[in-house]
Parts: sequence; structure tokens; C-alpha cells
Amino acid sequence: MAVKHICCIGAGYVGGPTMAVIAQKCPDIKVTVVDINEKRIAAWNHEDLSKLPVYEPGLDEVVKEARGRNLFFSTEVDKAIEEAEMIFISVNTPTKTYGKGKGMAADLKYIELCARQIARVAKSDKIVVEKSTLPVRTASAIKSILENTGNNVNFQILSNPEFLAEGTAIQDLHAPDRVLIGGETSAEGERAIQELVDVYSQWVPKENILTTNVWSSELSKLTANAFLAQRVSSINALSELCEKTGADVNEVAKAIGMDSRIGPKFLKSSVGFGGSCFQKDILNLVYIAKTYGLNEVADYWEQVIIMNDHQKRRFANNIVSTLYNTVSGKKIAFLGWAFKKDTNDTRESAAIYVADDLLNEQAQIAAYDPKVEEEQMYADLDYLNTRSADENRQGLSVYRDPYEACKDAHAVAVLTEWEEFKEYDWKRIYDNMQKPAFVFDGRGILDKKLLNNLGFVYYRIGEGAQEAMEVQASH
Ligand code: UDX
Ligand code: ADP
Repeated sequence: MAVKHICCIGAGYVGGPTMAVIAQKCPDIKVTVVDINEKRIAAWNHEDLSKLPVYEPGLDEVVKEARGRNLFFSTEVDKAIEEAEMIFISVNTPTKTYGKGKGMAADLKYIELCARQIARVAKSDKIVVEKSTLPVRTASAIKSILENTGNNVNFQILSNPEFLAEGTAIQDLHAPDRVLIGGETSAEGERAIQELVDVYSQWVPKENILTTNVWSSELSKLTANAFLAQRVSSINALSELCEKTGADVNEVAKAIGMDSRIGPKFLKSSVGFGGSCFQKDILNLVYIAKTYGLNEVADYWEQVIIMNDHQKRRFANNIVSTLYNTVSGKKIAFLGWAFKKDTNDTRESAAIYVADDLLNEQAQIAAYDPKVEEEQMYADLDYLNTRSADENRQGLSVYRDPYEACKDAHAVAVLTEWEEFKEYDWKRIYDNMQKPAFVFDGRGILDKKLLNNLGFVYYRIGEGAQEAMEVQASH
């Protein structure tokens, strides 16, 4: 049986781009992406491709090619489930905010709802593919729901974790380092794995498609993200030591990255990692380890998060202490709000936490991000529940023009590494700021020499503060 209809439940950052690429590369398969969020589906169907709900370089081209041909976005969930031989589950699995495992375990309520809906609707055999990042052994929970509530049809559950990174999703999907497919080791399980291998092998070389048992596949996803996040926390831990001792963390990163055993990637010191995956997946790993009584294993990985929280807080503290121990009533411009460049996603973005700390100090924040909407920034702050919605709107102003955001500011903080920040007319920014004019570069992207020559007091994460202090003294 070759798959002719694919349904994907969840039209978010994972489901949308992944299905668009599957549809682009497999014109013989009808791919329907469904979501309960009508606004989101309407945005996916928007004629103007700049209005797609997910900003991702190159995504508009892929959607343009496949949409209406074999790629469809719809709110008719039941219909799409019924029609499909293969159903991807790409719904969100946030960290639990209540009950057992609060703040650690993944909340599987959306996944369970999907499984129940599939069980209710399905009248023919289905292959169900977990795409969302899930804690190990979720597949067995899905299977149990499907088998006990279904209409006596056969379900095969596969785990096919997503490794795409936002901002480079299309290139990651077009040429993945590997595609991982986990399934049951039975004959039926192997047949289901083969069906999915056949989909991917329409554009991915066979040697890059790995098949494993379900649990290895699920755990590999958590492990990959834990290792990547650990590298960022490791270099960030060293950034603090560099600042105290006068070493430059960028030089250290370059030196160690040239060791081929270490490699150069994920060694960029920053204000802290964000995104929907790293923290959630590590917390999940920690929770799973604790569940099995593996306290040392849990503590080991938890330290990656502790370091990351420290890095965000340290950045905010440094702004306050440098601005003569008070930011009360001072305008602080934020360049960037997204958790990294080339995305409009703000989940767990360091900017939110830095803003929260500075608002506690009564700063006036003026934020600019090329892709993040104003309501999103307010929603991010409101979600923290630190202060009322009104207070958040009084403390944070959102600008569509970066020069306006920086005008009359006491300091500029760079929170996201957008390329355009490097191209700005920094003299114009300097001329319109309060003096001394401070820049806190949480991404290490700006030209230090240029900024120092213009008269800025420039702090870069992981570089000795000494030099900046000297410049400050000379003003
Ligand atoms: C990550 C994984 O890379 C991807 O494989 C998985 O499917 C989902 O989670 P993503 O969250 O989109 O992808 O972004 P990623 O590029 O991994 O960056 C995560 C965070 O780490 C960002 O905030 C980024 O700015 C930060 N980071 C990354 C650093 O601070 N320094 C680095 O050197 C690299
Ligand atoms: P991710 O980054 O994992 O893609 P998102 O939050 O961007 O996460 O997307 C998940 C999508 O799943 C959301 O648009 C949400 O509306 C959708 N969703 C959640 N539960 C269901 C459900 N039961 N049926 C259909 N869509 C759902």
C-alpha cells in the first residue's frame, strides 16, 4: 500500500513547514494540514504569502509551489483523518503548568485529545506518526488509547522526531543530516516504517534515513537537544569567567572549535538559549530520570537549565549595575525579541526574561523586532504573570522603527542576532541617545571598534568589562 493521503494535525512551526516540504517533494501524495485554530488556518491560506503565520526563509516559495496542488490547509479535522492512510501528530506539548510534574513534564493533553479523535473517526487502518517532541514511551500511551477506543481498525505508531531548526527549517527539511524513524519490531511495524521511508526517500538519500525501535527514536530527540543546549550552556558558563579575567570568550570558542573532536558549531556565547525545544526537552529528560530514581543523571542535565537562567539574569543585572545601579524611569531599547534570528517565534526567548527583570527595576523598555508582532510581545510578558497586563503595557512600548526605539535611550540591548542590526547607522543612533550611551550586546554581533570609536560604552557578552570601563571613565 503506497501512501496517497497524509493528514497532519497541528499547523504550527513544525507541522506547517514539514508538510509543505513533503507536499513539494511528493506531488503524488495529497497532504492536508489541519488545525483547530481558524485564524491560523486562514493565515496559511492567505493569498499574500508574506502573511503566512510562520516566518521562515524560503517557506513562501514552497507553499506557493504546492498549495492548492497537493497541499491543503483546513479546519476540517475529522474529514482529513478519515481520508488519510498516514496521520502526523504535530501539536504542541508545552511543559506542564499544573499537577504532577508541574514545570518539568510535558503536558500531553493535546496529544491525548488527538489520539482520541483519531480513534473515534478512523474507519480504516492508519499509520500514526508522532512528530511533536514527546517524552519517551508516549507512543505506547497513544497506542493504548487508539486500541481501546477505536473502531477495531489497526493502528501502527511511528516516532519520527523533528530535527529542523527554526530560521533554517526549509534547508534542514530539504537536506536533513538524518531522518529518524522509530517503529515496532513486528512485521506490521516494519511495514509501517517502510511506508514512511518511502515518503522521505523521494528526496532524502537512503543512507540518511535511520530506523530504530520507537523508544530509541523518542529518546534520541531529547538527547540531541540536551547535547546542543549543553554546548551553549558550557560556553555561556565560560563567558562569565572570561568577563572576570579578561579572556575573550569568542577567541576561546574559536580555539576549542578548531579541535575536530569538539567542532565549531553551537559555541556562540549568548544572553541564553531560547526556543520551544531546548528547555522543555531537558526538563523532560530530568523528569524521566527522576521518575526512575536516577537523581545524579537528573541533576547533571538540570544544571544546563540552571546555567541558562543564570545567564539571562546576569545580563539584566549587568545592565542595571552599569547604569549606576538604577534603571528606574530610564529608556532601554531592545533590538530583537525573537529567540533567534530569521524567525517570528518568541517561545522562551531570553528577551522576555531580561525585559521582565528590567521592568521589575521600573525601566521603560522600547522594543523593536523585524518580525515579531506587538501583541505577541505583550502576550509573552502577560504569560509570566509577574505584573498586570496594564503595567506591562505601561512598561513596554513597541516600535516599528529601530531608530525611534533607540531615540533618547540610555542603553541599547541586543537580544537577537538579526543581520540588519549590523547594518544600522550607529552614528545616528549614538547622536540621538542619552550620554554616556551604552550598548549591551547579548549576541556578540556588533562591530566593537566602530562602536567604541563612535563613543559608545560597549559591552559584549563574554568579554572583559575592563576595556569598557576605561572607555566609560574617559567620557
Ligand atoms: C532546536 C534544535 O536545533 C532542532 O534540531 C530541534 O528540532 C528543535 O530545537 P531551534 O530551537 O529552532 O532548534 O533553534 P537552535 O538553532 O537550536 O537554537 C536554540 C537556541 O540556542 C537559540 O536561542 C539560539 O540563539 C541559541 N544558541 C544556539 C546560542 O545561544 N548559541 C549557539 O551557538 C547556538
Ligand atoms: P510546534 O512548534 O510544535 O509546531 P505550535 O504551537 O506552533 O507548536 O503548533 C501546534 C499547533 O497544534 C497549534 O496551531 C494548535 O492550534 C494545534 N493543535 C493543538 N491541539 C490540536 C487538536 N486537538 N487538533 C488540531 N490542532 C491542534
